[in-house]
Amino acid sequence: MKTALVFGGSGQIGMPLLDRLRDDGWRVYAVSRAPRAEQPGLVWLPGDLSGEPPGAAMSGGALSRFDASARQADAIFSCGPLDLFAQWYARSDADAPRVIAFGSTSIEVKRGSADAEERALVARLREAERTLFEAAAARGAAVTVLRPTLVYGSARDRNLSRIAQVAQRFGRIVLPRDARGLRQPVHAHDLADAAFRCIEAEVAFGRTYALPGGETLSYRDMVARVLAALEPPPRLYEVPSPVFNLMLALAHAAGIALDFNEAAVARMRSDLVFDAADAQRDFGYAPRGFHPVAAMFPSPD
Ligand SMILES: NC(=O)c1ccc[n+]([C@@H]2O[C@H](COP(=O)([O-])OP(=O)(O)OC[C@H]3O[C@@H](n4cnc5c(N)ncnc54)[C@H](OP(=O)(O)O)[C@@H]3O)[C@@H](O)[C@H]2O)c1
Repeated sequence: MKTALVFGGSGQIGMPLLDRLRDDGWRVYAVSRAPRAEQPGLVWLPGDLSGEPPGAAMSGGALSRFDASARQADAIFSCGPLDLFAQWYARSDADAPRVIAFGSTSIEVKRGSADAEERALVARLREAERTLFEAAAARGAAVTVLRPTLVYGSARDRNLSRIAQVAQRFGRIVLPRDARGLRQPVHAHDLADAAFRCIEAEVAFGRTYALPGGETLSYRDMVARVLAALEPPPRLYEVPSPVFNLMLALAHAAGIALDFNEAAVARMRSDLVFDAADAQRDFGYAPRGFHPVAAMFPSPD
């Protein structure tokens, strides 16, 4: 029986990955900062990659439990923060032959952003990928880094689910008229499937892949489809950019949508498009088109 160690197993990509591995007969150890109930074929290990003990009772002991599991694992998956995972991996003595880690297309998209925090994120992602590949090379492990575009499908994402929540709260969403940049939303289950498929794909060893969704559509059409999936469907209003900017400034002044910054507004006009051809050829990546339904978003209650 093969053994997997999964970081981020409670997240939107991690959960379907745990199911996929267990369905295939793997024994799975998954790390979480919160205590979680064991299930057949799944053992939760309490631990925090940041090195901060999640509770006094879980300090050093918890860390050594997942370090020990890492030594038995046939494959290690990272579906949580890549920087913390890479730092842990580099200092651990994990000798699993296969490592599959999720990064982000933000490494490309946010490069040169007007926002200092976004540029810092890019620097962290770059450093994390570099650390991971170097540490793996030093111990003869094969790493694949998967970079998704905008993830949806679990009702827990911070992008489309957030838009759906705001739309349901106010009965409407306002967009600038030029929000026509192209997007490729990708379903979390397709990403879990990709991670599973590339375990054995030798051609993917030592490589990074962009994982976009199976359909390319404008930001405006993406939002319109989300709204159409909700019941009752909130309305979409499109206003000239200066009006939108004014509305956003008023919202910020009222303490609303503070993390929706200038860089995010500018990106609504930009095409964020990636090619899935390499992943398709190398491990049969086959993402679905964008067909949202209400269950993919948080309930208004
Ligand atoms: N969401 C997107 O649109 C998007 C887009 C591109 C790339 N990605 C990348 O895809 C990966 C997964 O994203 P996601 O949205 O599926 O994640 P998510 O649902 O937010 O879940 C994050 C996971 O990371 C774990 N985690 C967070 N901090 C941790 C820590 N200090 N120690 C141990 N575990 C920790 C959490 O576990 P516990 O809470 O159980 O501890 C949770 O399972 C990430 O690398 C992300 O950057 C996401």
